[in-house]
Amino acid sequence: MLGGKNILLGITGGIAAYKTTFLVRLMIKAGANVKVVLTESASYFVSPLTLATLSKNPAVTDFVKEEGVETDWNNHVDLGLWADLMIIAPATANTMSKMADGNTDNLLTAVYLSAKCPVFFAPAMDLDMFKHPATKKSIDTLLSFGNIMIPATSGELASGLHGEGRMAEPEDIMAFVKDYMLKGLPLKGKKVLITAGPTYEAIDPVRYIGNHSTGKMGYELAKTAADLGADVILVSGPTNLSLSHDLITVINVVSAEEMYNAAHEHFDPCDIMISAAAVADYRPKTVASQKIKKKEAHLTLELVKNKDILLSLGERKTKQFLVGFALETENELENAKGKLERKHLDAIVLNSLNDDGAGFAGNTNKITFLDKNSQIKAFQLKTKADVAKDILNEIIIRLNA
Ligand code: CTP
Repeated sequence: MLGGKNILLGITGGIAAYKTTFLVRLMIKAGANVKVVLTESASYFVSPLTLATLSKNPAVTDFVKEEGVETDWNNHVDLGLWADLMIIAPATANTMSKMADGNTDNLLTAVYLSAKCPVFFAPAMDLDMFKHPATKKSIDTLLSFGNIMIPATSGELASGLHGEGRMAEPEDIMAFVKDYMLKGLPLKGKKVLITAGPTYEAIDPVRYIGNHSTGKMGYELAKTAADLGADVILVSGPTNLSLSHDLITVINVVSAEEMYNAAHEHFDPCDIMISAAAVADYRPKTVASQKIKKKEAHLTLELVKNKDILLSLGERKTKQFLVGFALETENELENAKGKLERKHLDAIVLNSLNDDGAGFAGNTNKITFLDKNSQIKAFQLKTKADVAKDILNEIIIRLNA
C-alpha cells in the first residue's frame, strides 16, 4: 500500500516522540520514501541523527541548514509538495493549536501549511490537556480542514496518570494509514486472479518448449489492481520479474497444467479474472526421463493439445468478470470477438502484431478493448503500466454499471 509513496513525518515535542524511530522503520520496511521534520523540542526527545539514519534522508528542524549560509535552506514548500502523505506524530497540543491557527513560526508548521496531500495527526498529551476545550477546539478545526486524526488511546501516561492521551502505537498508526488509503479505492475488497508469463512444456529433464512472453503485462496488471485496493493472486509462469506488494500473492508455476490447476484452485472466490498468460497450446506427448541424445539425423516430437485454461474458466464462471487477451495478425476484431464468445468472456484485450511496439517483448503495448456488448475502444501506444491502468479502468466501469 505504501510502497513507493513519499511520506513526510512531522515529529513534535512529546515523550511519545521516542516511538517514532520504530514508526520510521516500519515505513521504510513498507517500501516508502521517508523524510522527517522535527520541531526543536522534539529533538530533545529523539535524535535527528537516529531519524536521518533510519529514514536515509536528513531529518530537519529549521529553515536554515547552516548558520550563516543564507542560500542553503530547507524549502518548506518543496517538502510539502514532495509528500504523498504527511503524518504528524506525536501531535502535541501546542503544535495542533498552531496548525489550527496557521501559525508558521517553525519549519514543521510551515511545511504543514504547504502540504497539499492528506495530512494525518496522532495526538499525544496528558489526559487533562487532552480533555481541555482548547485542545478539542484545535482538533475540531483540523478535522474541519479535512485532516485525519489517528485517535489517541487510553492507558498509562508519562505523568503516571491513567487515561486518554497516549499516542497510537507505531504498528497501529501504520495500519490506520494503510486502511485509510485503501478506503475509497475502487477495487477495495475485490479479489482479482491474473495469469501471466509463458509456460514451459518439458521435452526431457533439460529441454522445454516455451515462448517469448516476458510476463510484463500480467505483472503490471497485478500491481495496478493491488494499487487500486484489490487482493490479487498472480499465477505466474517462469519470468525474470518479481513483485513485492502487501496485497499480491504470487504463485509460481512452470507448465500449462500447473497453471490450469492453480487458476482453478483460486477461481471461485474471485471477482475479476484476467488471463494475460501466453499459455503453450501444445506439450510433448511424453517427457523423456533422461536427456535425449543426438543419435538420429531427425527427431520427431509428438505434441498433444493443452487444456485451454481460459475456456475452462469461462465454462465454470458464476459471478466472475472474465477477461482474455488475443494476439492477432489478421481479421483482428473478428477473431477477437470470436474468442470472446467461444470462451464466454466479458471482455477481451486485443493486441495486434501489426502495430509497432505492441505484443510480447518490450515495455509498450497498443490495445483495443472489446466487451461482450460489442463496445470497442482503441487505445494509443502506451507503456504497459499505463495500458494496465486503462484495462482495469474499463473493467471497473463495467463492474459499476
Ligand atoms: N489461453 C489459456 N489457455 C490456453 C491458451 C490460451 O488460458 N491453453 C488464454 C490466454 O491467456 C489468452 C487467451 O486465452 O487470454 C488467448 O487465446 P489464444 O491462445 O490467442 O487463442 P486461441 O483461442 O488459442 O486461438 P489461436 O491460438 O488459434 O489464435
